[in-house]
Amino acid sequence: MSYQTLITELSEHIFTITINRPEKLNALNRQVIDELSAAIEEIYNNPEIGAAIITGSGPKSFVAGADINEFIHLDSVGGKTLSKKGQDLVFSRIENSPKPIIAAVNGFALGGGCELAMACHFRLASENAKFGQPEVNLGLVPGYGGTQRLTQLVGKGKSMELNLTGNLIDGAEALRLGLVNHVTSLEQLLPETKKILQAILSKAPLAVAEAIALVNHAAYGKPGGLELEIESFGRLSGTADAKEGASAFLEKRKANFKGN
Ligand code: COA
Repeated sequence: MSYQTLITELSEHIFTITINRPEKLNALNRQVIDELSAAIEEIYNNPEIGAAIITGSGPKSFVAGADINEFIHLDSVGGKTLSKKGQDLVFSRIENSPKPIIAAVNGFALGGGCELAMACHFRLASENAKFGQPEVNLGLVPGYGGTQRLTQLVGKGKSMELNLTGNLIDGAEALRLGLVNHVTSLEQLLPETKKILQAILSKAPLAVAEAIALVNHAAYGKPGGLELEIESFGRLSGTADAKEGASAFLEKRKANFKGN
């Protein structure tokens, strides 16, 4: 598919989605949300795609938030619709994707940008990255999961502070808090992200998918996670890939997983 606000590239089973409105610091307007939704469906439906990266265009910004121009005419009903549509069609779809999706945060990740990064399974950031939930400056709260996922990632106290002050933090602080997993130079950001995804792509895809679902379950503090793990372990134990994994270990060779 081709998009007007996204650049997409599929190479070695890694689908890279670059949000491409650099003149507006890649702010998420309705068109970006619609196109992101379609691109996420590509991840789910295209068997050639094994994993994905979400990043922003240019050296300055990942995504500087939802497009504030669209806020001025919003009323209560419109705001609720905007938030629900984004959560249902983009943010939750990313979080629940059975294929890994990593954010490569190449600059400002503010508001909806921080939320987009947090919806991904994990995050790498460049040294110039800046994170924050500044919605309080606009008389709003985050609407794409920012209060929930930031609390999961950094704990209640820091999440409160960031959501109540709207303050920005840099990549080093984000790393210290556990908001991002690695910080690299801007040049190394995509190569390092791809390296991690290539390593994941060499693992058994069904096991990766089940691990994503189980960790997501735990992150929301839902009950029954240990029972779900028993079910997953049982399901995976019956797969050809589990036999291949054990055989490869015993035969001292690299496993060749087929996804079944
Ligand atoms: N929505 C709409 N437009 C945005 C935007 C957003 N969230 N963030 C940046 N832009 C636009 C600016 O209006 C400007 O457009 P213009 O050149 O037509 O005036 C352009 O992107 C460049 O931004 P600018 O503010 O000039 O860059 P800067 O380097 O001085 O500041 C930021 C960068 C990120 C600190 C600043 O743009 C900002 O505070 N943006 C809003 C962040 C925010 O509150 N996001 C949460 C929204 S819920």
